[in-house]
Amino acid sequence: MTGIFQLLLLVIATLASEPSCPACSKYDYEEKVLERMIRMEFAFEKVLDENKAVSKSVQLDLTRIKEENEHLHATVDALKEQQEHAERRLISLMEEVERNQSSTLENVVTESNNTLKHISAAFNVIKAHPKMVSCVAL
Ligand SMILES: *[C@@H]1O[C@H](CO)[C@@H](O)[C@H](O)[C@H]1NC(C)=O
Ligand SMILES: *[C@@H]1O[C@H](CO)[C@@H](O)[C@H](O)[C@H]1NC(C)=O
Repeated sequence: MTGIFQLLLLVIATLASEPSCPACSKYDYEEKVLERMIRMEFAFEKVLDENKAVSKSVQLDLTRIKEENEHLHATVDALKEQQEHAERRLISLMEEVERNQSSTLENVVTESNNTLKHISAAFNVIKAHPKMVSCVAL
């Protein structure tokens, strides 16, 4: 719409600036104006076509950028998911190590206690039968 308006302005400007030519007939003058208008129309259509081509190329670029953006988003989401999964795995592993350590500690304490009980029991047996001690000692 603006383009057509601009063309109209151009034509009016051309008509206004046309030098008065007493030698030329009115017919010649009108023919020249018409020729000029047609040339301008061609030029204008060419500009429009070029605009259309540029617009199409820009549209394609935009679509491509949009697709790349979506792809990047998907990649980032997948990486985030992987990282979160790795973090959860690490946390549960650390908890398991902690549990294992405390259960290992408990086992050691229980075993030590049992060993202590056995030693104590053996000592009591030895105390009750002093002769066995000399036997063992021999
Ligand atoms: C914890 O203990 C269990 C069984 O004792 C074992 O299979 C597992 O590998 C241990 N986990 C870690 C992280 O040490
Ligand atoms: C060790 O054994 C005694 C009994 O002989 C018990 O009273 C105590 O609670 C035990 N300690 C541990 C840490 O298991």
